[in-house]
Amino acid sequence: MAELGFEVLGVDIDANRIRQLSAGDTPFYEPGLAALLRSNLEAGRLSFTCSIAAAVDHADVHFVCVGTPQRPDSQAADLRHVDAVISGLIAAGLGPRSLVVGKSTVPVGTTARLAARIAAAAPGAELAWNPEFLREGFAVEDTLHPDRLVFGVTSGGRAEAVLRALYSRMIDASTPVIVTDYATAELVKVAANAFLATKISFINAMSEVCDATGGDVVELADALAHDDRIGPLFLRAGIGYGGGCLPKDVRAFQARARELGVGPALSFLGEVDAVNMRARARAVRLAHELLGGDPMNRAVAVLGAAFKPNSDDIRDSPALDVATALRRDGAHVAVYDPAAAANARDRHPNLHIADSVIGAVAGAEIVLVLTEWSEFRTLDPAALRRHVARPVVIDGRGVLDPDAWRGAGWTYRALGRPPRPATVRHHAPRHLAERPLPERPTSERPTSE
Ligand code: UDX
Repeated sequence: MAELGFEVLGVDIDANRIRQLSAGDTPFYEPGLAALLRSNLEAGRLSFTCSIAAAVDHADVHFVCVGTPQRPDSQAADLRHVDAVISGLIAAGLGPRSLVVGKSTVPVGTTARLAARIAAAAPGAELAWNPEFLREGFAVEDTLHPDRLVFGVTSGGRAEAVLRALYSRMIDASTPVIVTDYATAELVKVAANAFLATKISFINAMSEVCDATGGDVVELADALAHDDRIGPLFLRAGIGYGGGCLPKDVRAFQARARELGVGPALSFLGEVDAVNMRARARAVRLAHELLGGDPMNRAVAVLGAAFKPNSDDIRDSPALDVATALRRDGAHVAVYDPAAAANARDRHPNLHIADSVIGAVAGAEIVLVLTEWSEFRTLDPAALRRHVARPVVIDGRGVLDPDAWRGAGWTYRALGRPPRPATVRHHAPRHLAERPLPERPTSERPTSE
């Protein structure tokens, strides 16, 4: 919002984070974010505080962007941070002309409940829900160029006009703006994430069937993708989805459906979750098989720790889950990640976190590629072979070219792909021809969370 010319005050209860942001340091790695933060600090449009009262004095529009993680004791979303922000705004004397705009992903029904709290305690103030669809690794681009905006509002209020005026600096007439009720706005977000998770688990379920039949899931996905109704995206088979959004949103959506008495409508999401978790276990089993059944004291290299590339986020990382399982089974596991090494080192002290690909694979009896970083796509299998004890690779993300790796003498294995190709391929499957991900700018060094 500062980049668009607004005067923005960012509030957090974490004083360290506020100090860090005020000094122009991003607390996590996200392409383009550090430059944006610094230029807006320098321009004087952006500042930070721990005081919610200062925010209430400063602005008429308050975006609520706090996390809604999974509760430790159930599948439901933990709403304590959202509730604390609303309480804080009310206690600080939210004025009658204020608009509170929720961005957080919340269970359907939350906005109506919060609106009632605001109406009782701060008459005249309004609440809108405006879910966030950004992808990590593309957060800046997705935020400044949204593919759609969704405004959940009540009829007769000022919220729609205020939001349209705010976002008019960001979008043009071609950006779809969906103005709807609270419940629909809340549902758009969780339905979108549930659909994306379902697509990934669908192809991973096909991958299980391919393993049982000798089919090739990459060629299957490629052939499916030519049907425009299916399309090519989010059909990359592998060790499944992770991160701070899809896993917990799939679970929280089911929990909410059960509370609403429509649990059976979303029971299939339980299968989506189960397929996803099985994908990690299948990768561990394949590693056991390729190590002759016993990983005890064997040297294993894992390339990738972040839950996805272009991020240092290791929350619910499938890569670290697989690495940890192999460690638990007695293997000596060395992990390399271009951005998430510091976070992995902090949270997983019993894994060895290497500083380079070569450092991780040196002496390894098996290499697992578990995050789809573009730097792993372009590894030279012939050069890498000289560093390992045995040239065996598991491609957990479908990023390597099996012909090139086999040609360089490697045993190449991937979930849902036959150990040896049965046919000669007539074209490279689309996933291998995929547009490479943007490289990490050298000016932005990752920092630990
Ligand atoms: C997701 C949604 O995409 C985004 O719209 C929402 O706002 C937040 O949640 P994000 O968590 O950044 O974004 O990750 P996403 O790009 O969706 O990837 C999630 C996981 O799925 C990653 O672990 C990725 O490796 C995996 N994935 C993705 C696959 O396994 N196969 C695919 O084909 C695509």
